Amino acid sequence: MAARDRARTDPERLAALLAGLPIGVEFHDRIDSTNTRARNLLAEGLVVPRAVIADGQSAGRGRAGTRWHSPYAEGLALSYALPGARREPADLVRSACLALCRALCRCGCTEIGIKWPNDVMLAGRKAGGILIESAGGGWIVGIGANLNNDPRELPGLTYPAASARGQLGRPVDRTAVAADVMAGLHANLADLPAGSGRQQRRWVELSVLLGRRIRLLDAGRSFTGVVTDLGTDGSLELEDGGVRRRHRTGSVDEVFANR
Ligand code: BTN
Repeated sequence: MAARDRARTDPERLAALLAGLPIGVEFHDRIDSTNTRARNLLAEGLVVPRAVIADGQSAGRGRAGTRWHSPYAEGLALSYALPGARREPADLVRSACLALCRALCRCGCTEIGIKWPNDVMLAGRKAGGILIESAGGGWIVGIGANLNNDPRELPGLTYPAASARGQLGRPVDRTAVAADVMAGLHANLADLPAGSGRQQRRWVELSVLLGRRIRLLDAGRSFTGVVTDLGTDGSLELEDGGVRRRHRTGSVDEVFANR
């Protein structure tokens, strides 16, 4: 990969691409974390959903207290602040993962998959992730993705990472990807609850873990088994020696080559 491909988001084009959709967008050149900004908006009494997008984050957060690095004007950092508590976090993760998968597909990426509980993968490597938080009587759907950055430059990585540009060999249009993700997320959320079965089927189809033997860390314990089901409640079922156990939390520590 060439060293850099920075093209800042074009807020006017983003607004034009989202025209007709009832989505308020707030754009920041640099911010600490779009999720923190969304949290503050909800605490201040936001009454209609708003998307917060930034070209750079200095303190992006990932799941389980990790850092999410957002190289300036190279990735996607987007948070959707949703007032109102009547949402299931599992629905939000699924809707957001599917929106990101669709947007990556539309810009030409292939071998797109979802790794429970919240990772979007390109050819088995993590290219994006979702962070759901609750705040101020509402929800925050945080979406991060490696688009035009070189994933080898991300500091302190503990997993194999990918980016859209790394896979395609050319940069993607970050403004168009942001608009696609927003429009997809909006459509997926509007489609609930009626469309939850359809979204669940897609979630299962895109899963890179179903049928694979994995090791999972959950609440400080380690579990090994074959993934036999992904529940609509966001759970993952592991079978080991005829015993099935359902996990609602945890992270995948290893995916084994053989069943
Ligand atoms: C993960 O895979 O651990 C989740 C990563 C989520 C990162 C996004 S980037 C936009 C939003 N703002 C944040 O601080 N985090 C999320």
